[in-house]
Amino acid sequence: MKRTLITVNAFFKHIILLARPHIFLGFLAKPFLFFSNVISLSRWISQQPKTGIFNDFFSLKRDYIRRYTLYQYVVDTQHLQDEAIDYLELGVCGGQSFEWWLASNRNPASAFYGFDTFEGLPENWGVFFNKGDMSAAVPQLTDTRAEFIKGLFQQTLPPFLQTHALDNGKRKILHLDADLFSSTLFSLAMLFPYLKKGDILFFDEFNVPNHEFFALKTFTDSFYIQTELIGAVNNYYQVALIVKG
Ligand SMILES: C[S@@+](CC[C@H](N)C(=O)[O-])C[C@H]1O[C@@H](n2cnc3c(N)ncnc32)[C@H](O)[C@@H]1O
Repeated sequence: MKRTLITVNAFFKHIILLARPHIFLGFLAKPFLFFSNVISLSRWISQQPKTGIFNDFFSLKRDYIRRYTLYQYVVDTQHLQDEAIDYLELGVCGGQSFEWWLASNRNPASAFYGFDTFEGLPENWGVFFNKGDMSAAVPQLTDTRAEFIKGLFQQTLPPFLQTHALDNGKRKILHLDADLFSSTLFSLAMLFPYLKKGDILFFDEFNVPNHEFFALKTFTDSFYIQTELIGAVNNYYQVALIVKG
């Protein structure tokens, strides 16, 4: 019986591929992906704790400044202020969030790495932002713990990981703020070997269904890594997750 079903399934699959459905149904690909991700995001949200952690869901108004309250909450509850950490920010732009994190930590053994093209987004992001938007000058900082790595993550992360010993026992704080699915997934996959229990992931535009959320979902589904929400603001626009293992 099973063998017959497999044969029938294969037959229909071959017929569908022969019919080249992209020609007459191609316009459905993007909306179907979007609705699929909206449903996954909604399910994910329904599974998150609403009490016992810092979470403002549901709030009517988005206040971008509230993300700093989330950062401070995590610094306080995870006792990060004096700990030696490796902070990696993927998507720096003008350096606002990067500078916040640099100022929040006092340990001289901490390292702060900021990755960006500094020439803007490498591809369009949704309908409002185009390739090249968000370009900014590389921040000039006096704190010697800070290092900026200019270029596409896809080109800079592999050599960076060969020259920087990230398997050093320090807690990793990854700040994923590249907005795009491709950039976020690539970064998570590259940094996966260095992630340990207790490391923290921040996302800055998490509740955008086809981008940062989809990247985390694809990453956790594919790498069998477990994370737990420890804080969220602006209806999950900004989230902090801790690696459980
Ligand atoms: C929203 S901005 C970062 C904002 C910053 N973290 C803040 O809050 O102050 C997103 C940045 O990601 C960068 N970016 C996106 N994908 C990238 C990639 N694949 N390689 C390098 N930079 C990328 C863009 O150049 C852009 O400056």
